[in-house]
Amino acid sequence: MDKILILDFGSQTTQLIGRRIRDMGVYTEIIPGDAALTAELPPELKGIILSGSPESVYGHGAAPDRKVYDCGLPLLGICYGLQRMNYDNGGKVEALPKREYGRITVTIEGEASRDPNGSGEDPVQTERLRQFLSGFSAKEAGNQDASFTAWMSHGDTLTTLAPGFRQFGVSGTGYPAVLAHETKPWFGLQFHPEVTHNEKGKEILAAFVFGVCGCTSGWTMEQYVEEVRTSVAAKTGTNPVLLLISGGVDSTVAGALLLKTLNPDQVHLMYMDTGLMRKDETGTVKASLEKLGAKHLHIVYCEDEFLGALRGLDDPEAKRKVIGDLFISIQEREVARLGLPETCFLAQGTLYTDLIESGKGVGKKARLIKSHHNVGSPLVDAKRKQGKIIEPLDRLYKDEVRRLGRLLGVDEEVVRRHPFPGPGLAVRILGEVTKEKCDILREADAVYIEELKKRGLYDEIWQAFAVLLPLRSVGVAGDVRKYGWVLALRAITSADGMTADVYPFPSKDLIEISTLITNTVKDIGRVTYDISSKPPATIEWE
Ligand code: XMP
Repeated sequence: MDKILILDFGSQTTQLIGRRIRDMGVYTEIIPGDAALTAELPPELKGIILSGSPESVYGHGAAPDRKVYDCGLPLLGICYGLQRMNYDNGGKVEALPKREYGRITVTIEGEASRDPNGSGEDPVQTERLRQFLSGFSAKEAGNQDASFTAWMSHGDTLTTLAPGFRQFGVSGTGYPAVLAHETKPWFGLQFHPEVTHNEKGKEILAAFVFGVCGCTSGWTMEQYVEEVRTSVAAKTGTNPVLLLISGGVDSTVAGALLLKTLNPDQVHLMYMDTGLMRKDETGTVKASLEKLGAKHLHIVYCEDEFLGALRGLDDPEAKRKVIGDLFISIQEREVARLGLPETCFLAQGTLYTDLIESGKGVGKKARLIKSHHNVGSPLVDAKRKQGKIIEPLDRLYKDEVRRLGRLLGVDEEVVRRHPFPGPGLAVRILGEVTKEKCDILREADAVYIEELKKRGLYDEIWQAFAVLLPLRSVGVAGDVRKYGWVLALRAITSADGMTADVYPFPSKDLIEISTLITNTVKDIGRVTYDISSKPPATIEWE
């Protein structure tokens, strides 16, 4: 399967480059920009992209392994990536008098077919150039005098082109915007084609990936399933595989994938009902996994243990610590109870975005797992030491996991589900957690989420939930004064949970949902809407 490698120099949009190309059906991998490349690059690698960066090439910006310039593969430099290619090969990069940011017109001015160096054409490079520039052309082929709106964010520009570089496009402000090398398969853009504000971004990336690099599109979820079938089965053989299921999308899809690609008799799934779950969560998870063919599903009911340990605690950190420790001790106890042999493998629903690359070279990544109940778990550490960890989703982004889930027949209810924190409702009940409060919050949250689904708003929102505040406020019910709990609603949009914007709720929906909650959940007297973005606030309240 063809692959494009992306050298990440730290731009905020590097992940987007990877996403855009994957969406075209070509597999991408991102490694640190200065990672050492293996002496022999894998044959499936068809091209390399050098990303943008917040740094300057003459400042603290990292440089790629020099092999990148000697490997003969097509290169595409984006913003800093282009400046890097120019600087590393004898050109000059200097600061602009004023930083350029936002939408800027770019005009294509060159003709691909023109003799590139005046001393005879290199037909291969001429063809690559033609292919590359076709990404910029207007509807009718061959029209390369098109102007279009590009999206830029740069403080530096190319002031002297490196030998062999030629300018094919200029920005409305007069700076080099599109470049190509006369004899080498090197191309560069001063703007960010991966950003949606860029008028021709998709076409330009496609021209590089398909036209210049000659990739064929073969990155499909069907193919992924087949690859996992071969690679996981080769690793595990007939040994048992244990997967800890949290009820979220990732671990459920990982479970579905194992059940599909291994013998279901080998697959042991363990799920803990901590009593801090959403309404009907355990039932939904159970039904969903059984439908997928789970034969060994171990549900551990441990609500009493969790609520007992949380009794009297109201400090957020203390609550999180108690929950984390209890997860680990129950996990150890229950895994031992299963009596699985030493040869057992441990599977995790780690995603591509959960991995941190170490810079050791193509395909050699250091892994850091951030799923709450696996952090610092002795079981995970031990299995990792023995080389008995499998992570069948580790090449996928979140929305690819959802696509895979659908392909494998995971219930839509689970596939679409918003993220849920490991410590569950405990971080959404401010102050002390009790069973009564869990039940109230579960009910109110269920009304809220159900309404969002009914109103077609659920999928527009990255994460929505209710929070029970440690406050009662006065209200009237009939002629009687009553003191009900105060509930906060949260709804945010986000790409990855690292930053978040408040969902701009239509006020009609918000008011109607609030009324419905106070009418149906009798203990809630008042509803508020949280209008804080992240930063400075976090998504969860504790
Ligand atoms: P914050 O509150 O840090 O949340 O802005 C970012 C995202 O992470 C989720 N979250 C957690 N997930 N264990 C988890 O597995 C946790 O302890 C935890 N705390 C927060 C949160 O729901 C949001 O999606």
